[in-house]
Amino acid sequence: MTIFVTGGAGYIGSHTIVELLENGQQVVVLDNLSNSSKEALRRVEVITSKSVTFYQGDVLDPIILNKIFSEHDITSVIHFAGLKSVGESVVQPLRYYENNVTGTVVLCQAMAKANVKNLVFSSSATVYGDPASLPILESFPTDTTNPYGQSKLMVEHVLTDLAASDSSWNIAVLRYFNPVGAHASGTIGEDPNDIPNNLMPFIAQVAVGKRDKLNVFGSDYDTHDGTGVRDYIHVVDLAIGHLKALDKLATNPGLVTYNIGTGVGYSVLDMVKAFEKACGKSIAYQIVDRRPGDIAACYANPKKAKSELGWAAIHTIDDMAQSSWLWQSNNPNGYEG
Ligand code: NAD
Ligand code: UD1
Repeated sequence: MTIFVTGGAGYIGSHTIVELLENGQQVVVLDNLSNSSKEALRRVEVITSKSVTFYQGDVLDPIILNKIFSEHDITSVIHFAGLKSVGESVVQPLRYYENNVTGTVVLCQAMAKANVKNLVFSSSATVYGDPASLPILESFPTDTTNPYGQSKLMVEHVLTDLAASDSSWNIAVLRYFNPVGAHASGTIGEDPNDIPNNLMPFIAQVAVGKRDKLNVFGSDYDTHDGTGVRDYIHVVDLAIGHLKALDKLATNPGLVTYNIGTGVGYSVLDMVKAFEKACGKSIAYQIVDRRPGDIAACYANPKKAKSELGWAAIHTIDDMAQSSWLWQSNNPNGYEG
């Protein structure tokens, strides 16, 4: 079985490819390296002692897509390729819609042409907006306020219409909660290009001395310690969720949607404490104003994934912090180092 992975050089893609290779699958990757390094795939090959076929190119380019489908016996596609910064999407909405929405349409057109109709799509818990209650079920209404979130929701609608139009498509929409952590080897991990927007890479950079202190965005939320609560999920658990989704697609389910989270919410200060324990240092932080657009709390009800995919997260908050620290301390400058 050959799995075609778009965006496979990125954070979640590289971890998923490790699991695919270790599970005996062949993997072909297309990535334009706009937010990643080829070095990640080299390290994936070292971890697994297996090889990955890599094409540098864009999902917006039908020529390279047609070439890949004609050169390989692809059974399924995992589509990670996308831009993911909320703030950037507000400034550059057209770039986000083109890359994330048009990119997926072009990919699906090439899949249809090649008669490959099994797709796993990376969606996000951001599609739930500010939920009326917690934990969040897949049936909750969707509502999102920024172009990044809109692009994910638009793709969900495109895929829903596609599956409705042709029952031979099987599509798993995975709504990730907050992916963190790294592979146990400490050789692959999250490598933000710029100042990290997300909490865990920021904490890791404070721990390693690249940043002075963490700004904690708000301490007056209605949560157990006043700081924002999220459902952090270890990236290896998330990666394994993709393999379970591929198994599900083999049963011809049509379009299915799953929350991929742990079901447990931790606060910003819970994460700081876990990281301090992992790295043996104190993490300097200051409380600042709330970040515009943030919500108080967000965590999944992951029972549907458990009952229908046989998937549940197993890594703890300490595993997340320890693996993140191992990656960051071994690679203070990410893949560039
Ligand atoms: P990432 O940026 O590390 O990986 C995305 C990869 O896609 C990168 O390697 C990038 O170079 C590549 N890429 C982007 N546009 C491309 C294009 N047009 N053609 C070819 N390659 C392209 O991000 P990630 O954290 O691994 O996220 C993977 C997917 O999961 C994204 O679609 C993202 O929106 C989604 N997601 C991520 C999170 C998160 O917190 N990391 C949460 C929810 C959803
Ligand atoms: C962000 C994105 C969301 C995306 C998700 C996963 C925004 C508004 N939302 O969500 O669309 O799906 O990442 O990639 O950007 N925090 C701090 N200090 C920091 C960074 C974060 O206190 O320097 C706090 C936040 O206020 C929040 C928590 O840490 O309470 C987690 O933040 P973050 O990692 O950015 O994830 P989300 O806000 O859930």
